[in-house]
Formats: sequence, structure tokens, C-alpha cells
Amino acid sequence: MYTEIVEIHSDPSGQGVVETEAIQRAGEILKAGGLVAFPTETVYGLGGDAMQREAAKKIYAAKGRPSDNPLIVHIARLSDLEAVSSFVPETAWLLAEKYWPGPLTMILPKGEKIPLETTGGLSTVAVRMPRHSVALALIEAGGGFVAAPSANTSGKPSPTLANHVAEDLSGRIEMILDGGPVGIGVESTILDLTEEVPTILRPGYVTEEMLRRELPEVRMDPGLSSKDESYRPKAPGMKYRHYAPKANLVLVSGDREAVAEKIRALVREGMEKGKKIGILAAEESKGSYPEGIVLLLGKRDSGEDIAQHLYEQLRRFDELGVDEIYSECFSEEGIGRAIMNRLRKAAGQQIIRV
Ligand code: TXA
Ligand code: MG
Repeated sequence: MYTEIVEIHSDPSGQGVVETEAIQRAGEILKAGGLVAFPTETVYGLGGDAMQREAAKKIYAAKGRPSDNPLIVHIARLSDLEAVSSFVPETAWLLAEKYWPGPLTMILPKGEKIPLETTGGLSTVAVRMPRHSVALALIEAGGGFVAAPSANTSGKPSPTLANHVAEDLSGRIEMILDGGPVGIGVESTILDLTEEVPTILRPGYVTEEMLRRELPEVRMDPGLSSKDESYRPKAPGMKYRHYAPKANLVLVSGDREAVAEKIRALVREGMEKGKKIGILAAEESKGSYPEGIVLLLGKRDSGEDIAQHLYEQLRRFDELGVDEIYSECFSEEGIGRAIMNRLRKAAGQQIIRV
């Protein structure tokens, strides 16, 4: 299959999109059951019509994703929430008013119209309204309900540039809408509202502290931080090794100087064995590593910068063909929670404490 890549620009007000003809065509592809990748404010998504079983099946096939891992349904109008879910609690309306369009996904009871293929067989459904103008325009053009996982091959880091999508999915999907680099860089916060206690299944830009204002009892899924293998995270996607580069990634945590010293020693050791070693570090650490391939994420106190560059740098290590990567750890404040969650998953929980 030939994959068409089309650049889409937002108009100067940042509201609509300029290439409306291309968006209309992309919408027609979705309605006909085809697949279109598109930018959102978090990461690029791989869209198919959420109401068509066959489209969901194509998404799983294109990504190489297990079909028990449910998709997020993206909408462009608040009123469409009722078509997605059979029961929308007051809290969901409240959070939608406050955070939509934006990087918050809510889990609700599934509506009848949504096929089980879209929800991976579950009776619940994940739904969000993205903020990106290209995403909103595409959803409108495609009929209003777009199922979209991140547009990467299953297991790889999520795409933050259209190029990343092309690397993984060229030849497997009809079209890629290139809206430039995404703003946030890590996937949306997933909040489960079907449990007695509202639970964050995946941390993201909308933090636990922010949600606590509307939901004083909100908690993190205990499965996210548990080392007990039998205690699994509830979001099916969080149980797989994920966001991972090809090379073995190991995190080093502890006092800053001690971490740098440990990483230098590990780099030396690896190089003596003839290996190509990568280092993932904060900008301030630039001068700490005279050997190895150092890729920087951003200033230590700028979680926004670090989040925005995380997946891009992990993918760059793949291009550079390194054998091993050692990474510093970052603050868990604010979006830092999401950053460290993704890094730990990408590392398969391998952490050296110094
Ligand atoms: O930012 C995002 O959320 C991006 C953009 C494209 O919107 N999408 C995204 O989708 O990250 P995906 O499929 O890569 O991740 C969705 C996660 C998976 O871990 C999946 O298991 C979980 O959401 N999920 C979806 N429906 C669920 C449900 N009904 N119950 C529990 N977890 C669910
Ligand atoms: Mg994903």
C-alpha cells in the first residue's frame, strides 16, 4: 500500500487548519474504513473509524498490537460523549468541561454503538477529546468517532514527529497528516471512572494533584508501582514492555554526582567489551560524560522539555545503533511522574541504585 504524507498547517490564529481539502480526503478514508495517522497534542495517533469493527482490526494489524489491548475513542464534540458511553457520571462532565479538549482520557461504561473490537473485548471504553486543531478537524471530517492508539509499531516509543510514524507504518496505512512536532510528547493521562475509587491508570500531563481538586479521593493504580509480578496494572497496555528502544536500557538513580560516576564506570566497562554505549541525560550533565554517545533531554527542572524530547531521543539511539543505554533519573514532580513511568517501562524496570 502507498502511504501518502501530507503537511498540514494551522492557520495563524492556531484554530482551524489550512489544508482543508486534504483533511476532507483523510476523513473520507476513515469513513471508507481506512487508516490515517494524525498529530495530537500528546503524540501522533493511528486513526480508524471507531464504529467499524474492521477498522479496529486493521489498526491492530498495522501496529502488530495484541487485540486484547483496547483503543481510545477520540471525539471532537462534548455532546458526542453520550454516544460513546452508556452512562456518563456527573464527574465525567465536570472533568470534560475543565480538561477537554486536552490530554485527559476517561474510562467509562461502553455505549452500545461502540464495537467490542474497538475496546479489546471490554465492556468499558476509553474516550478523549484532543486539543490539536488537525486532530479535531480530522475527527469532524471522519464522522466524529476516531479510534486511535499511538501511531507506533507495538512496543516502540510513541511517535512525536510525522517521520517517526513513517518509519513504523509506511506501506501499512493510507495517509499520514504531518502537523510538525507534538507539544507534550507523552501520552494522555488515563483516568478510570468505572471503579468505586477514581483511579489513574497511566500518568500524563494532567496530574494526580490537578485531578484531586475535582476528585479528592483520586488515586494511582497500585499496579503501576508494584514490583510484584502478579499485581498487574489495570490498563492492558501498561503491562507490556513498552516505549522501548532496541538497545537494553538501564536507569541509574541516586545522588547526582554518584549517578554520573556510576554511569561513567558502566560506559567504560561496556566500551572495553567493544560495545557502543548511549547515555540519556539532563542538559546540566553535558560535561559529565567524556565517553559514550550522550543525548540530552532538557533542563533538569523543565519537565515539559524532557517530556517533549524523551521518545525522539530514544528513537535516535535506535538509529545510532547503540547496544546499551544508561539513563539518569528525573524529578517525579508534575509531568515528571509520567516521564519516569515511561522510562521505567522502557527499561523493563531495570534500575541501579547508587
Ligand atoms: O495521548 C494519547 O492517549 C494517545 C493519543 C494518540 O491520543 N493515544 C494513546 O493510545 O496513547 P494507546 O492505545 O497507545 O494507549 C491507550 C492505553 C492503553 O494502555 C490501553 O490498554 C488503555 O489505554 N485503555 C484503553 N481502553 C481501556 C479500557 N477500557 N480500560 C482500561 N485501559 C484502557
Ligand atoms: Mg501506545
